[in-house]
Amino acid sequence: MTSDSTASDAARASDAELWDERYRESRRIWSGKPNAPLVREVEGLKPGRALDLGCGEGADAVWLAREGWRVTATDISRVALERAAEHGAEAGVADRIDWQFHDLGVSFPEGEYDLVSAQFLHSMGDLPRERILRRAAAAVAPGGVLLVVGHAGFPAWEHDHADVELPTPDEVLASLELPAGEWDVLVSAEHERVQNDPDGNPTTRTDNTLKVRRR
Ligand SMILES: C[S@@+](CC[C@H](N)C(=O)[O-])C[C@H]1O[C@@H](n2cnc3c(N)ncnc32)[C@H](O)[C@@H]1O
Repeated sequence: MTSDSTASDAARASDAELWDERYRESRRIWSGKPNAPLVREVEGLKPGRALDLGCGEGADAVWLAREGWRVTATDISRVALERAAEHGAEAGVADRIDWQFHDLGVSFPEGEYDLVSAQFLHSMGDLPRERILRRAAAAVAPGGVLLVVGHAGFPAWEHDHADVELPTPDEVLASLELPAGEWDVLVSAEHERVQNDPDGNPTTRTDNTLKVRRR
């Protein structure tokens, strides 16, 4: 093992620890509701096999399973995955979701999917997001969709995210390096939503969506 690989192995171990710690901060850190852009872009698609990358506490995976998808959901945090599996069981869809631990910079779920979804796959850790999203595109079956939703910026109160790179949807598209003539771009757009700040005051945030379909 080289000193470089020792250093990057240590970084990966600490990414998992970092996210486990973040999830242990409270019993639930996300809303428990599916992400609105996921619901908007997936309603109307014929359910098939779905892959949720960085599934967190599982609200998107549970919603997809309820909509009739067979879901593989993956995250680097075992704390989040345990919590997500509990939510899946409570929702009665445990048999439709396969929860898998992956550090996506190191390993990736097997198989081909009709939908691959990356919702806010951002990290204050060492996340090779572009490479992961290229791998995600390779996992999309013919006729299937890759949906990448991200933040366009972070609010002032989330100052610990200052170093996280936030590409525009067109930058994400370029970084996917999709072969010409094999994919259609269905959505590449920014959108606003209102979120309360820690004092409960509504603020407007901007997110973005890239949705591409393999021909
Ligand atoms: C901002 S959260 C989004 C969670 C969820 N998709 C949502 O929208 O509520 C980012 C998620 O990515 C996960 N994550 C970060 N780095 C990862 C990696 N290298 N491999 C897999 N998951 C990772 C985190 O544990 C976290 O659950």
